[in-house]
Amino acid sequence: MRIDILTLFPEMFTGVLGSSILGKAEEKGLVQYHVVNFREYSRSKHGTVDDVPYGGGGGMVLKPEPLFDAVEAIVGEEKPRIILLCPQGRPYTQALAEELAREQHLVLICGHYEGYDERIRQHLATDEISIGDYVLTGGELAAMVVVDSVVRLLPGALGNERSAVADSFSTGLLEHPHYTRPAEYRGWKVPDVLLSGHHANIERWRLKESLRRTMERRPDLLAQMELTPLMKELLDELRQEQKNSGQAGE
Ligand code: ADE
Repeated sequence: MRIDILTLFPEMFTGVLGSSILGKAEEKGLVQYHVVNFREYSRSKHGTVDDVPYGGGGGMVLKPEPLFDAVEAIVGEEKPRIILLCPQGRPYTQALAEELAREQHLVLICGHYEGYDERIRQHLATDEISIGDYVLTGGELAAMVVVDSVVRLLPGALGNERSAVADSFSTGLLEHPHYTRPAEYRGWKVPDVLLSGHHANIERWRLKESLRRTMERRPDLLAQMELTPLMKELLDELRQEQKNSGQAGE
């Protein structure tokens, strides 16, 4: 995969793209990052990339020319996904990360100031993505979130392929609790079933705890899921347990 990042602050990416899984993925040849300062594509001698909005009002708007020129210099004949990071975009999810991980080439555009000239949205971008309902000072941190979540899905990026498969969200459920040694710490014990060596019981416990966590923290996710008969059975158990503990507290 090739990932181009267009930004006015290329130095923000150095640590993130060079470290950990993202750095290793590039060393392994799974991905190539190109961070481009689109100020280089400004047509003014002062390197201007923004201007005041037509119609007045505060703030500055990113001009179309530098971004169109920067993207056209990268793209050539192919048709990569050209992604604007902005709070008005489509909410970012694991499903979208999985979709982007199947692409050969991504171009991420990081805006600053009040926003983008509308023609950038309409005629340059193929996608607009928001990483959440809050406003960042620019798209850089959002682009890093997208790159991180996509690159870790590339085959071979994670040491242990299973770990991406069992992630929260990729199964549609939040992950079950994890424990490691010691079996008892400050009097807090690891659940017996995990020490039992009984794989079927362990898998059942994990699924049940995933369901419990999802039910408690993200019922919206459960509502969207197709439940297997085992999941339905476990959810019934959880509801029964809830009812019993409610009665015990009365
Ligand atoms: N730029 C500013 N805020 C953003 C957000 N929430 N998501 C993506 N890009 C942004």
